[in-house]
This record gives sequence, structure tokens and C-alpha cells, in this order.
Amino acid sequence: MIADVIVDLQYGDCGKGKIAHALCRDKDYTHVIRYNGGCNAGHTIYHEGVKFVTHHIPCGVFFGIKSIIGPGCVVHVDTFLQEIKELENAGIPADDLVHIATNAHIITDFHRIEDGKDEEIGTTKRGNGPAYRDKYGRRGVRAVEDPRLSKYLVNMYQELYENDEFEEIEVLFEGAQGFGLDVDWGDYPFVTSSHCTVGSAILNGVPPRSIRDIWGVAKIYETYVGAKSFEGPEDIFEEIRELGQEYGATTGRPRQVNWMDFDMLKMASRINGINKLVINKMDILDEIDVWRAYSGPHMLEFSSRDDMEFWIQTKLQMDVNEDMKIYFSGDKEHI
Ligand code: IMP
Ligand code: MG
Repeated sequence: MIADVIVDLQYGDCGKGKIAHALCRDKDYTHVIRYNGGCNAGHTIYHEGVKFVTHHIPCGVFFGIKSIIGPGCVVHVDTFLQEIKELENAGIPADDLVHIATNAHIITDFHRIEDGKDEEIGTTKRGNGPAYRDKYGRRGVRAVEDPRLSKYLVNMYQELYENDEFEEIEVLFEGAQGFGLDVDWGDYPFVTSSHCTVGSAILNGVPPRSIRDIWGVAKIYETYVGAKSFEGPEDIFEEIRELGQEYGATTGRPRQVNWMDFDMLKMASRINGINKLVINKMDILDEIDVWRAYSGPHMLEFSSRDDMEFWIQTKLQMDVNEDMKIYFSGDKEHI
């Protein structure tokens, strides 16, 4: 078995959907598996020039690849069925390709109502936190118990280990949210209720040694949506928000913007053990031509894009992994 994992190194919304889409196009995956989160996620994907936003469904469906919502995820059934319908209507044959692990958990309507009352964390109000709470409280409902899902169910053990359909299983793990929102490593309590690191992918049923590439995804500046105050004081962040269209793909909320926190990027790169890194949205800072980042309390000012790229590359290769391959991307559909 071979597995590649995509992890977000900041606060979600760094362009994981784009990387997943590009890797599905270029590699030979037999499966794409979502490993955490629920319909709090919003993955923006440009497929043949057309924009799609997915919440539950992994992007393997755009390339005819079997796509599974893994045991680490929580699913809201109506949203899931609606999403399949929308993809089918748009000409993407999702219905036969999408599966849900029998042991994934259900987000009930009650979970949504409860999460809808949240004011402290600024959640997406999609029922995520209450669903995970009930899962770990051992009173949750698993996918296998909901008759509406019966045709989509898959037993992960059989699928990955007793499957004659494929000579070798090759999995792409598509993550949701990001390191800064991880329930253990993020800025608790302003976090989501699932794990957003590479460890989370392994929990979905593959051996650690099967992992080939760990793709970290970040942006050249940072964004965060939620209740804590995050945005820097400069007016320029308003401009970045507009240029970068930094509005939530799930809730439409404006994302707060700040300069890259390089130390967090380094920490997330180390903890995830990444060997490939994509830094997105270079085109946005190209437009304003201001190149800044924080390292601890210090704000670093770079004279040009080249200068900043060189600094990031040198530091990460020196401190994290000398063989790390880093891509600086300013394109919606390609790495
Ligand atoms: P929850 O995951 O809906 O419980 O929200 C917890 C925190 O994570 C809030 O600050 C949300 O805005 C944030 N969050 C959850 N999902 C995403 C996402 O996909 N992108 C960005 N932020 C997210
Ligand atoms: Mg998103």
C-alpha cells in the first residue's frame, strides 16, 4: 500500500482542494480518502475552468477515482446527499464513486441546532463539535446505523486489505481544516474538534510505513475565520482580503488576514514531517508587492518576492528537511 497525505499548515483555506485535484490528475490513486472533519470544510476546486465547492466529498470524483469519507470524519446525511446531487447535476458522476466508512459518525440535526447557538468559538455551525463530543462520549451514531446511507457504505478493512479489484492500493488522503485549528496543536479553545495532522490520516486505517509523500499546504499570508481577534492593524489586509477573495467557502464569512507566522509554519512542517510544500496565493502578494512575515515577535520585511522565497526555502530546508521540495504557486488550478 502507498499513501500520500495532504495537510494544511495554517488555519484551513490554504488550497488543499487545489493540491488534491492536481495530484489526482497526475498520479495513479485507487482511492481518495477524507480523514477528518465534516461539512465545516469548504474545498474550492477549479475543474476544467469551472469552480466547485465541496464540503464532504473527496475530490477523486472529478477523475473517476473511488472516494471515501473515512472513519475519522463526521457526516451530515442531508448535506452529503445534496452534495452528490449537485455534483451529478453538474456532470460529475459522483453517486457510484462516493462511499462512507461504516464507522464514520453522523452529525444529527440536533447537533446542528446545538452548534448553531455557539458564540464563543465562532464555529461554522455545522454540528461538528457536538458530533465529535458524542462520538468520544460513546453515545454517537455511526454511518452504518443510518438506512439512507446503506448504498454508500464501505468497510474500511475489507476495502484496503481484502480487495481483489486493485493490484496495489494507492491512497491520497485529503485533509480538512489545518494545523492552527487542530484540537491538540491549535490555539485551544479556538480550534475545531478533530485532528488535522498526518497522524489523523493514519488513524483511518493505513500503516505509518505506507506513507510516501506528505504534502504541506500554506498561503504566503495567513487567514483565520472564527471568534478570536486575528487580523493585523494595517489597512493592507482589507486589500488582501478583496484581492484574495478571502471569504469562507462554507459560511461566506470574511476571513481575518495577517502576515505569515513563519514559526508556526516551521512547527507544523516539523510535526507533520512534510517533504513537499506548496505555498499558495503568491499572485495576491505579487499584486500589492509587499513581502512580510512574522518570526516570533519580529516582523520581517523582504525586498522582493525572490527575497522572501529564498529566505523561506533556506530556513525550512535547514531546519526541517534538507530535501524538502517547495513550490510557490499563484495559479488557481495548478501547483
Ligand atoms: P467548527 O469546525 O465548525 O467547530 O469550527 C471551529 C473553528 O474552526 C472556527 O474558527 C471555524 O471558523 C474554523 N473552521 C472549521 N472548518 C474550517 C475550514 O474548513 N476552513 C477554515 N476554518 C474552519
Ligand atoms: Mg476551506
